[in-house]
Amino acid sequence: MNITFRQLKIFEAVARHLSFTRASRELHLTQPAVSMQVKQLEHAIGLPLFEQLGKKVFLTEFGHEFRRYAAAITTQLDELDQVVDEMKGLKRGRLTIAVATTANYFVPRLLATFIQRHGDVTVSLEVTNREQLLKGLVENRTDLVIMGQPPEEMDLVAERFMENPLVVVAPPAHPLAQERRIPLQRLREETFLVREQGSGTRSAVERFFSANDLAFSTPMEMSSNEAIKQGVEAGLGLGIVSLHTLAMELALRRLVVLDVVKFPIMRYWFIVFREGKRLSLVAQSFEQFVKEESVKLLGLPEIRPAETAG
Ligand code: PGA
Repeated sequence: MNITFRQLKIFEAVARHLSFTRASRELHLTQPAVSMQVKQLEHAIGLPLFEQLGKKVFLTEFGHEFRRYAAAITTQLDELDQVVDEMKGLKRGRLTIAVATTANYFVPRLLATFIQRHGDVTVSLEVTNREQLLKGLVENRTDLVIMGQPPEEMDLVAERFMENPLVVVAPPAHPLAQERRIPLQRLREETFLVREQGSGTRSAVERFFSANDLAFSTPMEMSSNEAIKQGVEAGLGLGIVSLHTLAMELALRRLVVLDVVKFPIMRYWFIVFREGKRLSLVAQSFEQFVKEESVKLLGLPEIRPAETAG
């Protein structure tokens, strides 16, 4: 089969955009040039990759299959690029990381220090939920992932590097704010604001509640930590969120952490990559940096007793 890397790159862009126009814009080529390359590619393979229905472009069944191979080949080529740079002794590098929504409350600070120390690094940071993080690892779209406990059945290298306590938050004027050692059963009477399905926080809270024979009474689902905190401040109910998300609200006394028996629910942060993945030098140093420096650099917000919360 006589195909070129350039054709693969063009195919990949058209498949991603499902549009010849958008792909040509991204690649700084004319639209006819892109169409021509795709035609030549289809000719070389002997099977159609795209079909056009009305104005819409679709991948054919074979096109989907071909895309998986094209992605694997282009990832390998990018890796080869890195290796060549490293062999030439170049320090610059590209770091592609994906982190859980909640980790976004501390990862930018880690990146800032890392870049200060390391120099010329281009970063691509994706912030998404647990489900998408796992998908990114399976599809080999990312070097490193920062997430809660990864599933055991996947072939991953995962190192635990920091605590992630989940706490119950309330507005300072809430009747429970003044109480100490609140029994877990007391939570039955409260409405909870919980994260969306697919969030690690959500599944940890569900596991904790069912292990303790508690059901959520009328839980309200919100798709971000910010929405939960705003909702709790507004008096919609109590929230369970990571202490990492609360630095500002606790400092400004907009929320308080309730002293509930058996809390915090202790989760941990992991830095993860796929077994067998060849990490670039930059990714290797970032992984090391996260494991060694996170606890020193970050710390957790202080939980103040409710009496002092105004
Ligand atoms: P999130 O957090 O998916 O709820 O944002 C990560 C985790 O605790 O697993």
